[in-house]
Amino acid sequence: MPSAAPPASSAVEPPPTGQRVTPWLVVVLAVVLFSGGLFGYDQGVISGALHGIKARFSLAPMLVEVVTSWVTLGALLGALAAGELADRIGRKRTVLIAGAMFTLGSLVQALAPATAILVAGRLIVGIGVGVAAVAAPLYAAELAPTALRGRFVSAYQLAITIGIFLAYLVDGWLSQGDAWRFMLGASAVPGLLLFGVALIAPKSPRWLMKMNRRADAAAELRKIRPGVDFKARLDAIETALRREGGRASWSEVFHHQWRRPLLIGIGLAIFQQITGINAIIYYADQIFDAAGFVTQSSQTTVTTWAIGGVNVLATLIAIAFIDRLGRRKLLLAGLVGMAISLAVVGIAFRFIGNAAGGAAAAPSGAGIVTLFALVGFIICFAFSMGPVTWTVINEIFPGHIRGRGVAVATAANWGSAFLVSQFFLTLIGVIGDSSTFWVFALFCVLAWVWIYFRVPETKGQSLEQIQQLWKAPA
Ligand code: BGC
Repeated sequence: MPSAAPPASSAVEPPPTGQRVTPWLVVVLAVVLFSGGLFGYDQGVISGALHGIKARFSLAPMLVEVVTSWVTLGALLGALAAGELADRIGRKRTVLIAGAMFTLGSLVQALAPATAILVAGRLIVGIGVGVAAVAAPLYAAELAPTALRGRFVSAYQLAITIGIFLAYLVDGWLSQGDAWRFMLGASAVPGLLLFGVALIAPKSPRWLMKMNRRADAAAELRKIRPGVDFKARLDAIETALRREGGRASWSEVFHHQWRRPLLIGIGLAIFQQITGINAIIYYADQIFDAAGFVTQSSQTTVTTWAIGGVNVLATLIAIAFIDRLGRRKLLLAGLVGMAISLAVVGIAFRFIGNAAGGAAAAPSGAGIVTLFALVGFIICFAFSMGPVTWTVINEIFPGHIRGRGVAVATAANWGSAFLVSQFFLTLIGVIGDSSTFWVFALFCVLAWVWIYFRVPETKGQSLEQIQQLWKAPA
């Protein structure tokens, strides 16, 4: 059974005055929004840019895959490096590095005269994505007031979905000639903006305390959350840090004492991907094509609005409820909806296959059912496994291994995303469309059972209180 939450203690929790959203917290939010937005845009834009790139460089199929997937490879490397960086040089400076890499990588891609330079640009952007994916939510989780932490980290997810949506829109508008240069280069602007807001953003008081800089931590805390009893707050952080015992090595992250948060972080990260989200995000056009939406414009329209637009809107549900209903309720409810939707898509594809033996002339009844079921899947993912995964990953690790713990979980997420996007089409070829969606549905069921028994509720608890959960027997 899930472990019970420890009682909230007023000695650790600040009074409600400290829960207000101050202008400095808005700056923190801006860091999160730009990072997530760039992550989503860079993930979504390549499908539309590929046509032009292929035409310009006459790429062999292997190089097309490299151009597509090296962002993911870079993100994996960036995520692993970011844990070390975030612990050593701080969360804020790590975000600054991510902003610089986004800008540089976007410009290198936009101006690339040859394939090798384009690939280098993809890798640089990827590293930026990975670094930001670790540092920005971590930064938000450490700076947000406890009662708003879920919302702050969910805002990161909201920004990812807006980024994907914008990329779909841009893909729809521009697909001719050298427009790909603009598509890829466009993220230099938000990259620069991210660098700009990170420059003025406050430092994480928790990280400053870890560096034995109590006076600086007090100054930052007073600035970010005036009204909070900052002495009590810093004392609580200090006690937690003392309990943890100073700087940790990599082996500490894998120490059996922290096995539970590590397995929860990695487990959620992997389940988020193997339940199929990116198979749908990347290959929506092809799925709709098979379901009978044969014209390019009908595919672009359903993908942009039914997948991209709905994904943004449904994330707002999570933002509204994550700190009220809690993480577990959203995860468990969302997974039920995801499993049912995927099972229905699987059934619908049986009929699509029978009726047309491939693409139909117009969406059949089964095609329309597929569309509705995929919309259902996206809604359920967007209020559960999408935002809650990132929220939980960023709140479960004790301070001294938080950076590296988040990095390992994020790298597991990118690794799984890479495998799913790489093998989705192959799997369809081997076991067929229906069975592929049923495999994803089965993973939803497994995720449900595992979360029910293994993932405790973390709503309303300070980061210091959450660490106490790992002392209780599982
Ligand atoms: C996932 C991404 C996914 C996105 C879709 C994120 O939480 O990590 O892989 O593309 O959600 O909205």
